[in-house]
Amino acid sequence: MPDEPNYTLGHGDQLVDAFGLRGVGHEAQFVVPYLRSGMSVLDCGCGPGTITVGLAGCVSPGRVVGIDISGHQFDIGRKLALQKGIATIDFREGDVTNLEFEDGSFDVVFAHGVLYHLADPSAALTEMCRVLVEGGLLGIRDADESGSLVGPADELVQRGCSAVVEAWRLNGTDPFFGRRQLGLVRRAGCEPLHFSASYDNYTRGAQTRGLAEFIAELLQQPHMCDPLVESGWTDPEELQRMRDAIVAWGAAEDAFYCRARCETVARKRFSP
Ligand SMILES: C[S@@+](CC[C@H](N)C(=O)[O-])C[C@H]1O[C@@H](n2cnc3c(N)ncnc32)[C@H](O)[C@@H]1O
Repeated sequence: MPDEPNYTLGHGDQLVDAFGLRGVGHEAQFVVPYLRSGMSVLDCGCGPGTITVGLAGCVSPGRVVGIDISGHQFDIGRKLALQKGIATIDFREGDVTNLEFEDGSFDVVFAHGVLYHLADPSAALTEMCRVLVEGGLLGIRDADESGSLVGPADELVQRGCSAVVEAWRLNGTDPFFGRRQLGLVRRAGCEPLHFSASYDNYTRGAQTRGLAEFIAELLQQPHMCDPLVESGWTDPEELQRMRDAIVAWGAAEDAFYCRARCETVARKRFSP
């Protein structure tokens, strides 16, 4: 399946392995109180699928499907499911903006860290809502970069982080999508039940070092850098200084990066 053209992060091993450390306890914690044994779940843009495995544990013996545009990541989730003795998950390649399922196929439709990478998150939400049963639950969690905290304060590090955000924007996606969740969910046909914000915290040495290396690597890739330079936002020499500052920041004792995420649970409206 061809890659989503607006998905700027790519599928490098380091990133996929980092996403493979995610789980239901943090990333899907906002939706867990709504899950019940026997529910069917669709996890859209499931990546390596470790959150999917956690969701399957919550709804066991309910059927769970994880779909992603890039299926080479599924080995991680499949291995974890095997270790945990969970046999109810089906991982499939698929596009969240054009789901292969019939209307009303799932009790719960979930997406973590996916919609804000799409050029048209409304199209995805409409599809997600379509495949939900009436009264079914939608759970989404997305970043809103305006809430991110980076410390200790350093102008060049901050500018490097802003460069990534600007590259997303120039690529046609919305780095401030989190705050739009509620309105778009409502328009897609669901009634919000819960809204909150929480942080992904990179606060330990290994975490900030890994994140810094990842950001520095992103700021080296032509699909990120070319639009930034062509638009006059920065130049190659400043990009190099930002990369060096970010790598040095990531290795510093007091470095931290706390990333704001908005999270919504909503119920699909019943037809009149
Ligand atoms: C930031 S990752 C999040 C992965 C996983 N949900 C997690 O939180 O660990 C975004 C994922 O969305 C997938 N993706 C991007 N566009 C997609 C689309 N149109 N349909 C399905 N998956 C898509 C990417 O391949 C990637 O695996």
